[in-house]
Amino acid sequence: MSELLTAEELCFFKTYGYLIKRKAADRLHTDGHPFHLGIVCLLEDNPPDAGAFKVWPGSHHRFYPLFPMQYDQARIPFYDHLPSRKGLIHPHEYMDEVANVEADTPPVDCYGDAGDIVFWHHRLGHMAGHNHASPPTIRQAVLYDFCKTDLDDLRLTAPQPHMWTDWGDDLRQADVPVSKQFAAEQRLPISLIESARSE
Ligand SMILES: [Fe+2]
Repeated sequence: MSELLTAEELCFFKTYGYLIKRKAADRLHTDGHPFHLGIVCLLEDNPPDAGAFKVWPGSHHRFYPLFPMQYDQARIPFYDHLPSRKGLIHPHEYMDEVANVEADTPPVDCYGDAGDIVFWHHRLGHMAGHNHASPPTIRQAVLYDFCKTDLDDLRLTAPQPHMWTDWGDDLRQADVPVSKQFAAEQRLPISLIESARSE
């Protein structure tokens, strides 16, 4: 698969511990830049509720169809003489679904050990988890965005009826059901664990 992918975005990411204890609400977003597969790799052991990547499982199925383009997100450019509007455009359908997902899907805190990796679809709802470590700490991770080499040709295509259309025959035809044990190990919400295949 490596010859089919390029890595265009690499960055280091940190979450800082709160010096004053407070419980902020979890708020998801999806990324607006085009890529296929996101990766987060923890650079150090990261206990629960201490700033690790946080995801809303299954939300990519709900957000993927709501954008005009399946990879990019439309933006309003900035003009000096028109300063009131700029940046990403969030369709009403998308904002409504963000509220729905936040209301009906518990997020998963992707804590773990140094070297643990999260693979995530580009339309998955996510956030940098609030870092409530005590004493306050800084948690670091590497973020990496993989792009298939044909992404530039696909950027303006609309969402497809089958969301994995661009990912190749092997992946589309893969039949790897999620077992209850695997779902539990991935800390999925109880509703998704119960809907997984029995052993
Ligand atoms: Fe993001």
